[in-house]
Parts: sequence; C-alpha cells; structure tokens
Amino acid sequence: MRLEKKVAVITGGSNGIGLACAERFSAEGAKIVIADLLVEPGRAAAKAITDAGGDAMFVELEAANPEANEAMAAAAVERFGTIDVVVTAAGVSNGDYKSGDIEGGLKRMKQAGEAAAVNPAAALTELDIDDWRRVIDVNLTGTLLAIQATASVMLDQKKQGSIITIASIAARDPLWGAPSYPVSKAGVWMLTKNAARTLAPLGVRVNSIGPGFIDTNMTAVIDQVDEYHSVVIGNTPMGRKGKPSEIASVALFLASDDASYVTGELIHPDGGWFTG
Ligand SMILES: NC(=O)c1ccc[n+]([C@@H]2O[C@H](COP(=O)([O-])OP(=O)(O)OC[C@H]3O[C@@H](n4cnc5c(N)ncnc54)[C@H](O)[C@@H]3O)[C@@H](O)[C@H]2O)c1
Repeated sequence: MRLEKKVAVITGGSNGIGLACAERFSAEGAKIVIADLLVEPGRAAAKAITDAGGDAMFVELEAANPEANEAMAAAAVERFGTIDVVVTAAGVSNGDYKSGDIEGGLKRMKQAGEAAAVNPAAALTELDIDDWRRVIDVNLTGTLLAIQATASVMLDQKKQGSIITIASIAARDPLWGAPSYPVSKAGVWMLTKNAARTLAPLGVRVNSIGPGFIDTNMTAVIDQVDEYHSVVIGNTPMGRKGKPSEIASVALFLASDDASYVTGELIHPDGGWFTG
C-alpha cells in the first residue's frame, strides 16, 4: 500500500497507460480521479475500481482547455479534499487521433503512405498546420495546464506532491513521419525539467516517463501493418511491445516515497530502445 491515503489525478485515465496507472495506484491504496475526453470508458473504469473495493470518480476533461483543467482539480478537491499525485497521460499521436478508432487510424496511415510515395518529404512539407496545432495543444499545452491546475492545489495546501508527465522515446528520437508528436514530447520533457526546478524548493517533485512502444489503442494500428510492426519490434531489443502495467509500475515508483530524492528525471521503460 505505497499510496495509502493519497489522492491521484490521472488525465487520459479512460484507456491504456493512464488506465493502468489508475488501477495500480488504487491497488496501492490511492483514491483516484480519472479525467478524460472519453466519457463512457472513463465512467466504466471508475466504477470497476470502486466495485473492486477502491474509491474512484470520473471527470470529463478536454486536456487543451484551461477551464476544464481547473474544474478537474476543483472536482478532486471537492470529493477527496486534496491532490497528492498527478499523471498526465492524456495524449494524441496525430490531430485526428481518437483512442480506439482503429479504422480511422488505418485510413490515415494509408493516406500518409500514398502522400509519401509522391513526395518523400510530405509528412513535413505538407503537414497540415491545424493538425500540428492540435497535437501540440493536447500533448504539450495540455500537460502544462494540468500541472498548473494541480500544482496550485499542492502549493496552497503545502503538500509533498508528485507530478508524473508522460513523454515518449520520441522526446529524444524523432522517429518517422510528422514532426508534431516528437516535438510535443520533447516539449513535455523540458516542461518537466523546468517545472521540477521551480517546484522542488516548494516540496513538489516532477518527473517524466518516456515509454517505448506500448500495447495500447495508440499503437494498435502498427500491428495491422507488417512493415511498421517489424520496424518497431526490430528496433526494440526485447523484441516485444511493453504492457501498460509496465509503465504503471514506473509511475508508482515516481509517485511513491521510494522516489523522494528524484525530480526532473525522464525515465525510459522502452525494452532497450536506447541501447544502440
Ligand atoms: N502507447 C505507446 O506506445 C506510447 C508510447 C509513448 C508515449 N505514449 C503516451 O502515453 C500517453 C497515453 O497514451 P496510450 O498509449 O495509453 O493511448 P490511449 O489512446 O490508450 O490513451 C490516451 C487517452 O488520452 C485521452 N485523450 C486524448 N485526447 C484527449 C484530450 N484532448 N483531453 C482528454 N483526454 C484525451 C484518450 O481519450 C485516451 O483515453 C499519451 O500521452 C501517449 O502519447 C504512448
């Protein structure tokens, strides 16, 4: 029970990595606030956690909206009195991304392949600026807004808090295709370091996790296309995608007092991606 009596707010908690963090943190004694754009799976996840003996609530969140982040923090305080731990897992891989929409993802991947056949630089030179803006808005600005809203509560209450952002191996590796996602994640990394330096003297730690390829809705499309799948697995020395629970266990370490002297770090649970 490493998070007994703690309250954890998890953006993007309806699916994947955020959901795994919610489940693991609850099993370790935390009260959980799941915040997400997707309402039905979020409500179902909160109910499942509560039915299993935990205590969880769902809050609808558009991560890129400042007022929605303020409302999320206020709802956590109203229900549970405080915020001790935050995971910012809400994220998109492209401007059209909808978690669970495999058909849409495949269509987009096919279009990108066709554009690249005509213009090998299309992902850069023909990148739609609204697409770029949406990825930066959700992944980077959304992380900032969640930190602002939740850190304010921690500072007001003089808490020893822990904030965990979700970056990616793409924070340090440009991967392939459009620059939006890697740039957003590189921004999350530097935002994490900046926030860590500002908040360290005030008792709040801020760290980032930079996963490799993890088996969630976000990477489901890759499994459908042999050439992408073999590139991903071929570049992962462990020869497999990670499980969301393998990210949650790193998040648990960073959330807990076991990481009491750790701040401003980016940890890569990536199956060995950065060994080469
Ligand atoms: N899966 C991977 O391989 C991988 C690798 C590195 C980093 N990540 C990052 O991990 C985080 C979680 O992704 P995942 O793989 O679990 O995917 P996922 O699709 O399973 O989960 C993402 C969640 O974020 C929510 N979300 C998306 N846009 C939102 C918005 N505007 N406001 C609120 N919620 C929103 C989705 O509804 C979904 O529940 C993302 O930031 C992603 O970039 C994933």
